Amino acid sequence: MFGELSPIDRAKFAAASRAADLVEDGMRVGLGTGSTAAWLIHCLGERVQEEGLQFQGVPTSRQTAALAVAAGIPLTTLDGPRWLDLTIDGADEFDRQMNLIKGGGGALLQEKIVATASERMVVIADIAKEVDTLGAFPLAVEVIPFGRAMTQALIEEILVGVDVLGREVTTRMHDGRPYRTEGGNFILDLHLGRIGNARQLALLLNQVPGLVENGLFIDICDQVVIGFGDGRVEVRDVHSGGVEIGRVEIAETGNLFID
Ligand code: A5P
Repeated sequence: MFGELSPIDRAKFAAASRAADLVEDGMRVGLGTGSTAAWLIHCLGERVQEEGLQFQGVPTSRQTAALAVAAGIPLTTLDGPRWLDLTIDGADEFDRQMNLIKGGGGALLQEKIVATASERMVVIADIAKEVDTLGAFPLAVEVIPFGRAMTQALIEEILVGVDVLGREVTTRMHDGRPYRTEGGNFILDLHLGRIGNARQLALLLNQVPGLVENGLFIDICDQVVIGFGDGRVEVRDVHSGGVEIGRVEIAETGNLFID
């Protein structure tokens, strides 16, 4: 079974398994979306079953909610009395400042809400997600249906004035139709190649009225847990600058989520 996992899946598993150890009894935990988050939920489900770990998860998508329920993880919402203790989520890219591009799975709005509502946000990623400069991965922005063409035109106008390599904007498609988010909105993918000033771009984009949220996560992530195909794990802390190296045993588990 172990041999069935690609190196990238082993790396995702390693990161997810290490991050699952951060969850403690009584916590309220934001659960991200995507293939790395699916491994996390798998690992957390094992801890619930084997150790009796008791915590509540706040899912960032219907897909994650279904996986969590199947794994035996009790769910709650953000409407509780306090902040979430922790959010653990994947990313499409992270840079040395631990700023992120997210939204490849279309759940960026819920992901940003949940991450921002947490005391601590931990990213789990394979090493291939690390970049010097954000932007090779298309930047997702969620826009409401009303006035969508005008919203796109305003975004294109913003892109003319910022330091990026490319400026193509495409509507994300799914099964031959425009992709709809769980909120019923559209996703525009901005093919920027390289984002010279991600902080500035994130602020400018969120001034466009029909744009609900963008996939740049600036100053939100506290730690990145990076997995490698051989089971090595590196934990980087944005505040202390500390780096911890470890290794996780890769269990004989079938693939959950094909790349
Ligand atoms: C979901 O909208 C995204 O933000 C994901 O967290 C991101 O795309 C990472 O996904 P993978 O873990 O599948 O690479």
